[in-house]
This record gives sequence, C-alpha cells and structure tokens, in this order.
Amino acid sequence: MTILVTGGLGYIGSHTCVELLEKGENLIVLDNLSNSKLDTIEKIEKITNKTFKFYKVDLLNKEEVKRVFDENEIDAVIHFAGLKAVGESVQKPLLYYNNNITGTLNLVEIMQEHQVNKLVFSSSATVYGNPDRVPIKEDMPLSTTNPYGSTKLMLEQVLQDICLANSQFKVVILRYFNPIGAHKSGIIGENPNGIPNNLMPYICKVASGKLNFLNIYGNDYETEDGTGVRDYIHVVDLAKGHLSALERMEKNDSGAFIYNLGTGKGYSVMDIVKTFENENNIKINYKMVERRPGDIAKSFADPSKALMELNWKAEKTLKDMVRDAWKYEINNS
Ligand code: NAD
Ligand code: UD1
Repeated sequence: MTILVTGGLGYIGSHTCVELLEKGENLIVLDNLSNSKLDTIEKIEKITNKTFKFYKVDLLNKEEVKRVFDENEIDAVIHFAGLKAVGESVQKPLLYYNNNITGTLNLVEIMQEHQVNKLVFSSSATVYGNPDRVPIKEDMPLSTTNPYGSTKLMLEQVLQDICLANSQFKVVILRYFNPIGAHKSGIIGENPNGIPNNLMPYICKVASGKLNFLNIYGNDYETEDGTGVRDYIHVVDLAKGHLSALERMEKNDSGAFIYNLGTGKGYSVMDIVKTFENENNIKINYKMVERRPGDIAKSFADPSKALMELNWKAEKTLKDMVRDAWKYEINNS
C-alpha cells in the first residue's frame, strides 16, 4: 500500500512512519515543519534503513496538496497534521480553527476528488471534557473546554457526515489518551519548543537540569494520592494502533469508526515521578502548587473496543515509557 502521512515528521507521526516502513509499506510524508524538523527524515531512515518521499507542504495550500495527490497513487491517508497546544489555542483561536479545520477540509476534499477513500484521523481524549466516570467508553457524552478540543470534536462530526454522504469513504477516528515515551533507539522522541506544558517532557527537562523543579498541579484531587490521574500510553504502542486501523479499513464495510487508544490504566503524577526516579536513578525535584485551570481529576480509557475490533492493545509498561523518554532526552540534549 502507498500511505500518505500528514504531519509525519511530528512526534506521533514519526513513530508511526517507522512502524509503517518496518511493515514494508510505501510512504509519502507531507509536513509544513511548523512543529518539526527536517532532520527527522534522516532519523526515521536511520532507524528503518528505508527511504520515503517527503513534501514540505502546508495543508492550507490547496494547490500544493493537489500536487501530492496528482503525483502519487495514494491508497490511504493517516492525518496527524494539526496544532495541539491547548493554552495557545485559547490565546489564538483563529489560528487553531483555520489550521486544523481548514487544513482537514482541504485534505478530505482533495482525497475525494482523487478517489482516495481511506482516512485515519488523530482525535483526542480531550473530546470527553470532564467525564462523569472512568474508565471512559467511546459512547460517553462529548464536550470541550478549549478551541483545540473544539477543532477535534468538529472534525469528528465533519468526517462522520462525509461518510454518510459518500458510501465509499471510510474513516477511523482514534482518540488518543496521553502519549509519552520515545522509540527505543533514542533517535526520535518528543521535543517541544520552549518550556514544555505536558508532564513527561517537563520531567525530562528537570532530570537533565534544564529546569529546576516540577510544579505538581494540585494534590487535593479525589484520587489515591491527591494528584491527577491519566492514561499514559507509549508512543510506539500508539503508532501501532494506526497500522491496526488501516487493516480495519480493509474489511468490507464503510463508514466512520471510533476507538479509544489508551492502556486502560490510570497513573497519578506522583506515580510517574516515582517510576521515573526509580527506573532512571535520578531525583526529580518538585513542588506542590495550585491546580492548573481546566485540568480534571481522572481520565483513563476503556480500550476494549479497540481490542475487539482492531485486535490492538497497548503492550508497553510505564517503566518502558519513562526509560525511553529519558534515553531520548539524554541523546538529544
Ligand atoms: P506534532 O506537533 O509533533 O506533529 C504535528 C505535525 O503536523 C508537525 O510536524 C507539524 O509541523 C505538522 N503540521 C501542523 N500543521 C500543519 C499544516 N497546516 N500543514 C502541514 N503540516 C502541518 O504533534 P503530535 O503530538 O505528533 O500530534 C499529532 C496529532 O495527534 C495532532 O493532530 C494532535 O492534535 C493529535 N493528538 C496529540 C496528542 C499528544 O499528546 N501528542 C494527544 C491527542 C491527539
Ligand atoms: C493535555 C491537554 C489535552 C491533551 C493532552 C495530551 C491540557 C489542559 N490538556 O492533557 O488536551 O489531549 O495533554 O497531549 O493541557 N502536570 C503537572 N505538572 C506539569 C504538567 C502536568 O502536575 O508541569 C499534571 C497535570 O495536572 C495532569 C498530568 O500532569 O494531571 C498530565 O498533564 P499533561 O501532560 O499536560 O496532560 P493532560 O493535562 O492530561
């Protein structure tokens, strides 16, 4: 198969490219490099010993996107390209609505013009808002609290509507929980610009001495130790979920299918800090501070639908996640 990966040089995209190449798929990557670096191409090629075609193209530029489809026989698209910083989306809503919504509308319009009918879409557990209970199932109520989350929820709707109108079109919507970790080689991983917002990259910066201490946002939640609980999933397990989604689309039914990709286990901030310290033999300095506005107490998946229908489940442990995250940090600092 020839697969187009949008946003393929980003954090989750690059790990998915590795898995696709290792499976022997033919790959085309499109990225505007707004949150990634060109040398990720060499890194992916170094890990896999395989090559792929790259287009530096912005999804907002329809003519350039069309050229990618004109020049290649594409069988399916995995669509990662998008902006993902929750705080920035509150400050710059138009940037987020334009990039994520318009970019995706351009992509699916051009896909349909070229009779490319298979799409895997990156959604997020953020679409569950503040869930009334855990574990979270796919059919629980949806809501969002910020423009980033709203783009995901709106796009889920758009894609389902396209499937209703076009019986050839198949979409798998994957709702990721909290991806962390890195490829075991330490060659690719997560490298956010500036001061990280998310927990694992922040811990890595404290461990490497670039930041002095971790702020733990609240120890008065209704959780076992009072700190927030999340479903952390190794990015390589998550990447493999996309290969399972592509296989799912080979079945003879059309429409939109939605799956949680998580481990089904919730770990607290303190669990993460302690596991990181023990596995990597490094002390993490931390301070307990006020809750972060918008945060919820607990979020973890019921991943049983993905197991039943995609034959996918997360295999890696929290120890693997903290070890691989740290290996990447050491190799890249
Ligand atoms: P990332 O920022 O590392 O990767 C996204 C890639 O898309 C980047 O390489 C960026 O340069 C590219 N891009 C952005 N806008 C583009 C455009 N208009 N045209 C072409 N390329 C564009 O992010 P990631 O963590 O790899 O996330 C991938 C997807 O998964 C995103 O859609 C994100 O919203 C979603 N997601 C991520 C998380 C997470 O925690 N990382 C959780 C849930 C969902
Ligand atoms: C965040 C996003 C969410 C996105 C997800 C995965 C927000 C409000 N939500 O979720 O939309 O889908 O990332 O990318 O940003 N924590 C600390 N100190 C820190 C950082 C985090 O204590 O410096 C805590 C948080 O309070 C939370 C946990 O660690 O309990 C995980 O935080 P984070 O990694 O930011 O992910 P989410 O908040 O789950």
